[in-house]
Amino acid sequence: MQIFLDTANLDEIREIAAWGILAGVTTNPSLLAKEKGADFRATIEEICRLVNGPVSAEVISTDVAGMLDEARRYAAWHPNVVVKIPLIPNGISAVSTLAREGIKTNVTLCFNANQALFTALAGATYVSPFVGRLDDISEDGMALIRDIAQIYRNYPQLKTQVLAASIRHPRHLTDAALAGADVATVPAAVLKQAIKHPLTDAGLEKFLSDWKKRQAEKSATAIPVELPAAVARA
Ligand code: E4P
Repeated sequence: MQIFLDTANLDEIREIAAWGILAGVTTNPSLLAKEKGADFRATIEEICRLVNGPVSAEVISTDVAGMLDEARRYAAWHPNVVVKIPLIPNGISAVSTLAREGIKTNVTLCFNANQALFTALAGATYVSPFVGRLDDISEDGMALIRDIAQIYRNYPQLKTQVLAASIRHPRHLTDAALAGADVATVPAAVLKQAIKHPLTDAGLEKFLSDWKKRQAEKSATAIPVELPAAVARA
């Protein structure tokens, strides 16, 4: 499973990109709105410079012509731009056209398996089922990932990748991988939580202090080297 970062914050992207495992970035209008004063196009282009992988930029139109116009413009900004389209009838219609034009799409706000089937039939590159938001309403978000992964496996001609979104904690990340998601898009805070374990930190501290102790013992028991007479006199 690949990992994308779910943010429009350039500092977070720089920090996580330095791990060397980041395969892409997803943004949405809410995430971009949090970056006060940032220009949409300049932000997406900068993200494309920082990360060599798919970068999702979402349309704000809800009519087909508007979505197509935005999608074509965003796709021209950088070859790695993936156009995010909402999962509404007009969105599916726009994705069908964009797929024929070779423009990559990420269909967002997916909350059931039928929506994911329509998305794949339209030829989208990714479908984004929102795990956390389903959990928020007492549904099983991860069951949706499992269902979609199974449906897509049943019909190998469907090439859409399952992009687990709305990931809220490290267990979501593990479960998305177990469920067979192709990608999980994850906030930086969750990735930082996921990489940490108290036993890793305690274990490392012990290894380093044991090594330091050994070095100190070695230098305390070291036999003094006798210098040649000429050097000792100098
Ligand atoms: C990503 O593409 C989605 O927009 C994002 O994961 C939504 O996450 P949220 O439900 O935490 O806002």
